Amino acid sequence: MGAARRRKPKILRREGIRAARATFPLTQNHVNPARISKLKRLGLVVAGGTGSWAFGADSAQVHSIANIFKPLSAPAEAVYEISLLALLVCAGIFLVVGSLLAYAVVKFRSRPGDEGTEPPQIYGSNQLEMAWTAIPILIVFVLVLVTARTTADVQNHPLPEDSLKVRVVGHQWWWEIHYPDHGVITANELHIPVSSRDQRRPTALRLESADVIHSFWVPQLAGKTDLIPNRANDMWVEPYQTGTFLGNCAEYCGTQHAKMLLRVVVETPEEFARWIASQKAPVVQDSSAQAGRDLFFNTSCVNCHRISGTAAEGVFGPDLTRLMSRSTLAAGAASNTPENLRLWVQNPHTIKPGCLMPDMQLNPAEVEKIVAYLLTLK
Ligand code: CUA
Repeated sequence: MGAARRRKPKILRREGIRAARATFPLTQNHVNPARISKLKRLGLVVAGGTGSWAFGADSAQVHSIANIFKPLSAPAEAVYEISLLALLVCAGIFLVVGSLLAYAVVKFRSRPGDEGTEPPQIYGSNQLEMAWTAIPILIVFVLVLVTARTTADVQNHPLPEDSLKVRVVGHQWWWEIHYPDHGVITANELHIPVSSRDQRRPTALRLESADVIHSFWVPQLAGKTDLIPNRANDMWVEPYQTGTFLGNCAEYCGTQHAKMLLRVVVETPEEFARWIASQKAPVVQDSSAQAGRDLFFNTSCVNCHRISGTAAEGVFGPDLTRLMSRSTLAAGAASNTPENLRLWVQNPHTIKPGCLMPDMQLNPAEVEKIVAYLLTLK
C-alpha cells in the first residue's frame, strides 16, 4: 500500500509479554501490581493499563497493551508513520512557540523602577500577520494531504481474491463474529491467520452494528473503524506476528462500553485451519450434563443464545456452540473459568453491571446444572 509498502518495512519487532498463568480476579483490567512494576522496570509498560490488559491466556503470546507505536500489521504501520509526522510537526511548533514565549517572558519581565510605566505601544506588523497566518495554513494543508493520502491508500488497497472474509456485528456490549465462507459463528475472539512479508493473508472485515454506534479498534493491527447501524463499513488487517492482540470498542456505546473488549488471535495458517475445523466439527452431546441441558432449553436462555445443531437459535446474545474454546466471558470482562461462569450465570450483573443478560433468578442447584451443561460446549 502506497508509501508504507514501497519503502522498506520498518516494522518494530518486539517480544510480547508472555501471559502469566496466574488467574487474575474478575476483570481483564485488574492488573497485578507486582507484575506491572516488574514490567515497568523492564521498560515494557509506560503507563497503567489504559484499555486492555493481558491476562491468563494459556501460553499464547499476548501483545500486551494498546499501543499505536508498535504496529504489527500493514494498516497500523501506515497509521504509525503519519502519527510520527504529526508528532514531529507539533513538537517543532511547541519548541518554536515555547522558546519565543520564554524569551519574551524573561527579556520583557517587570524590573524595579518600572512601576506605572507602559512599554512602547506598537500597532501591528503586516509581515508578522502574514507569516503567522500563512505558515499554520501551510502546515495544516500538508497534514491534511498526507492524512488523505494514507487514508486513501488503506481504503483502496487491493486484497487478494482468497482473503479471509469476516463479518463483525457490534452489540451492546459484545462482538458477534461470522466466517461466512466457513459457516462458523463465534463471539468476542477473532481468529485470523498471520501474514508473512512474501505471503499475504489479509483478513477483510465487514463491520455492522445491531444497535448503536461502536468502533472496532485493535491498535497494533489497524486504525479505528466505526460499526454503524444500517450500514456496512469495510476494513482489513494483515498482521505479521502471531499471538493475541487486545482491542476494545472505541466509541462510547452505553453503560458497559468499557467492558466491550476484543481479542484477535493471530495464528499460523495451520493453526488457523485447525481452529476453523474444530469450530465446524459436529457438536457432541455429552449425556452427563443432560439435566443442565434440559434446564437450559426450558428457560429463556434459548431465546437469546444459539447453540449450533440444537433448538437454541437466539440471536440477541453470543453464540455458545463452542463457549469453552474462548478464553474470556462477557466480552473480555472475566476470564473463562468455571468459577466465573458460575458467577455469570448466577447473576451477570456482578461481573458486568447493566449488561443486557438478565439475572435469571436461578437457585444454586439450577446454576450448577446450567454451568455443568455449558462446560460441555467445547
Ligand atoms: Cu461498543 Cu463502545
